[in-house]
Amino acid sequence: MARIDYDGVTAASFKAAREIPREGLGAWEEAVRRHLEPVRGMTVVDVGAGTGAFATAFCDWFAVQVVAVEPAAAMRALIPRRAGIEVREGHAASLPVPDDGADAAWLSTVTHHVPDLVAAAREIRRVLRPGAPVLIRNAFAGRGERLRIVRWFPETARLLDTYPSVEETCAAFAAAGFAMEALEPVPQADLASLAELLDRVDALRTADTLMRSLTDEEFDRGKERLREAVLADEAPVGADLTSSLDLLVLR
Ligand SMILES: C[S@@+](CC[C@H](N)C(=O)[O-])C[C@H]1O[C@@H](n2cnc3c(N)ncnc32)[C@H](O)[C@@H]1O
Repeated sequence: MARIDYDGVTAASFKAAREIPREGLGAWEEAVRRHLEPVRGMTVVDVGAGTGAFATAFCDWFAVQVVAVEPAAAMRALIPRRAGIEVREGHAASLPVPDDGADAAWLSTVTHHVPDLVAAAREIRRVLRPGAPVLIRNAFAGRGERLRIVRWFPETARLLDTYPSVEETCAAFAAAGFAMEALEPVPQADLASLAELLDRVDALRTADTLMRSLTDEEFDRGKERLREAVLADEAPVGADLTSSLDLLVLR
């Protein structure tokens, strides 16, 4: 169903290479707090929760109850079992949550895996209480300029442009009665140096959907570009090191 098979190997690589250390997520904590307006104990449904990095962060940051819905067994198995997180099997168009059973929905790097966004939006409408927000953290077609991966591996833009755009996502959610409230790029500080990125690119190639789309030649060329920058000790600027994804809020 997803663009890639989140099997055991991919799940382990995802956890190792893609989970962002908590200290790099300060801007995300602030942006989510502003739009979610969290109240202790409120229910957030984490749609496509993966290995539970954000489910865990939301519990720690906001003391909310997270229903972590994830279709891939190998990803689900890595979600920490702890107070505040309920792990459930399901997917965006079939959420194991009662009608009006949640106060917010969170979808992080999931929309491009969902085969029918209109059906997903309808299902999210069903489980959210009236007036509750949908927070989407994603890369969108046509908005790759702040993505570090696109800077070093420009051919990844080819696949990015097949992802749902902001307009397509808003149209799918509008059909279910949601309107766009905000769109803002939010940076994540997950790497201290380009050398660290170079160390990680092989694992990223397994764990990252955009990186998996590269041919061997395209991957090698990008890695060489990166190696040269590390050897030249180039000071990274902007999107060379820091990456931003968009936060799209609908209500
Ligand atoms: C890139 S991972 C993101 C995981 C997590 N949200 C995060 O940001 O760390 C994408 C996840 O979406 C899940 N997924 C794929 N198709 C889905 C669908 N139709 N509905 C919900 N989740 C889906 C995958 O199994 C995978 O765990």
